Amino acid sequence: MLAGRRVVLGVSGGVAAYKAAYLARRLTERGADVRVVTTESAREFIGDQTFAAITGHPVIGHLFGASTSVSPHTELGRWADVIVVAPATAATLARLAQGLSEDALTATVLASRAPLVVAPAMHTEMWEHPATRRNVERLERDGVVVVPPGEGPLAGGDVGVGRMAEPEEIVAAVERTIGEGPLQGVSVLVTAGGTREPIDPVRFLGNRSSGKMGHAIAEEALRRGADVTLVTTSALPSSPGLTRIQVETAAEMEQAVERTDPDVAILAAAVADFRPVTAAPEKIARTAEAPRIELEPTPDILAGVVARRPRPLVVGFAAETGSLERAVRKAKTKGVDLLVANDVTEEGAGFAVDTNRVTIIWPDGRTDPWPLMPKSAVAARLLDLVEELLDRESGSGRVSSPAEDLERPGDGR
Ligand code: PMT
Repeated sequence: MLAGRRVVLGVSGGVAAYKAAYLARRLTERGADVRVVTTESAREFIGDQTFAAITGHPVIGHLFGASTSVSPHTELGRWADVIVVAPATAATLARLAQGLSEDALTATVLASRAPLVVAPAMHTEMWEHPATRRNVERLERDGVVVVPPGEGPLAGGDVGVGRMAEPEEIVAAVERTIGEGPLQGVSVLVTAGGTREPIDPVRFLGNRSSGKMGHAIAEEALRRGADVTLVTTSALPSSPGLTRIQVETAAEMEQAVERTDPDVAILAAAVADFRPVTAAPEKIARTAEAPRIELEPTPDILAGVVARRPRPLVVGFAAETGSLERAVRKAKTKGVDLLVANDVTEEGAGFAVDTNRVTIIWPDGRTDPWPLMPKSAVAARLLDLVEELLDRESGSGRVSSPAEDLERPGDGR
């Protein structure tokens, strides 16, 4: 949250200026007190009235004359807890990198000791031009937080890298920059997606997990200020602020997880329980008789995390088809702090959809069914619970949960 924090939003002139209105809205929704400074060219793209209506404050667009203050840039620069320039055009980046103070926006930045976050937006050629690369590097060396642009449609029908980051990503960067967020200082590991166990170079044993649930959790943890590592098999995008480790098999996922030392582990991946003992080095040819594929169990990643000493707070997932009886058994025996069960046969729940209906199961067998909701909302509620558990355990360092007194993980799966 940004409750009471003072944010100067600088808007320079690009078509992405319309997104700055959403950004102003998101910042105010997070509790920030927002003042907007625009450049002359920004006003060609979006009117001051829009920002004034969203923030409740007049926009500052000129250094002289238009404001009641004799020195609006120094007043604003001193007032700010953070300055965010979005969109930052190539020209604005160049001015900022040079330390020029030619207009209200650049003068405010120069007259401030507040941290600066910039979200560049421009055509691909401009973003990739050596001069822009130099300016961005220069700004980063000066401690400026650059929220890199993404790929997508640009002005004039072009497509490529240069599209301003989404307002949510910029808000997350602002929150991280000024040390906000209830999970600040907490490291969170999230696994996501379904593993693929090779049969030969062409075929694999897999499952229907898209990674949507795990990615939603990782993004929400990031938004709350956590230091997030996402171990994923999915091709879904993720915010630049998190550490992403791309894997394919259960063994790769286990190795990646072993390299982390999180305070909280949320294991939402659908890990194969069995894999072929050997993967054929070449494509298995079609023959009259179908080949026999011998399977062996995969490593139980969750059991490995639970067995750590000190152990992190562990949230397991359980994909069930029908009754949740087996999930209750898992919650009691796997040594987790809580288990998130979903019936993947239910409409709107489980694999690949944007919604989920989950039941929270505690290690003592208590259950709490949640209604059908977007996976982003499941992620938010789940992290509320994680925060509560962390609060309860704070003071004792790493988590020692009631689950540790229960039976050690058994066959569980
Ligand atoms: O990715 P989506 O398309 O959004 O779908 C979301 C989901 C359905 C995959 C997700 O909500 C979910 O249920 N994830 C867990 C799937 C699963 O593998 O459940 P399980 O009951 O087989 O495993 C129990 C727990 O043990 C899970 O936390 C799993 O990550 C873990 N496990 C399982 C096997 C294994 N070898 N190692 C593990 O760590």
